[in-house]
Amino acid sequence: MSSSSCKKCATSTSIGKKQIMGVTGLLLCGFLISHLLGNLTLLVGPDAFNKYSHTLTSNPLIYGAEFILAAIFLSHIVMAIRLIIENRAARPVKYHMYKKSGRGGTLASSTMPFTGLIALVFLVFHICGLKFGTVYSTNVGGVEMRDLYRTTIEYFQDPLHVLGYIVAMVALGFHTSHGFWSAFQSLGLNHPKYMPKIQCLSKLFGLVVAIGFSGLAIFCFIKGGH
Ligand code: HEM
Repeated sequence: MSSSSCKKCATSTSIGKKQIMGVTGLLLCGFLISHLLGNLTLLVGPDAFNKYSHTLTSNPLIYGAEFILAAIFLSHIVMAIRLIIENRAARPVKYHMYKKSGRGGTLASSTMPFTGLIALVFLVFHICGLKFGTVYSTNVGGVEMRDLYRTTIEYFQDPLHVLGYIVAMVALGFHTSHGFWSAFQSLGLNHPKYMPKIQCLSKLFGLVVAIGFSGLAIFCFIKGGH
């Protein structure tokens, strides 16, 4: 096989990886919106939030959903690492994978691996602190269930947790504000007519993620009276 055809293979597998990143990234954006909407029940009160989380966790389909979600997260991370390694190998001189790919050289685009890493570290702390956090129980309308509202409010009584969430959510906001429209580009859905609108929507998405989740952490801090 000639070296030019090898280069072609490398380029086409890179495109495949970017497409996988695009699809998994958009699915994760969908998860983020549904998680944010679900978490808004915190604003309604303990019963609403506990009923919502109980409805989700008591459904036997939750195990399949969790498995699929974990697979999506993993594929997204593994593809990102492989693309970074490939790009470094192709260009040993300090080079940025997003800068030269026609996707602009904004702060959000040039910090994608960094903001992605912050989101990953956040996720580990998040799941340990809430999903596997202190278990209390409560009774709502005669049904015994986990008092996840109490666990969540208590978790945010530590100002360091709130601060950590705000930092992580700003990073995630940056990550998604570029990732959302970049996914459309990777999937070839970059019609010149619609791209400016998708880019605008992408920035709005990042803003909603950063403000929405940080706002909820601050709400829990205030609600608990710390
Ligand atoms: C203030 C912001 C947030 C709050 C209050 C919150 C709340 C929660 C709670 C209470 C759980 C446990 C659910 C359960 O055990 O049934 C949970 C799980 C989870 N959260 Fe969040 N979350 C927030 C932000 C985020 C963000 C930004 C992400 C993504 C980067 C995220 C990803 C997840 C994941 C993947 C799970 C595990 C889901 C599962 O295993 O079913 N969360 N969250």
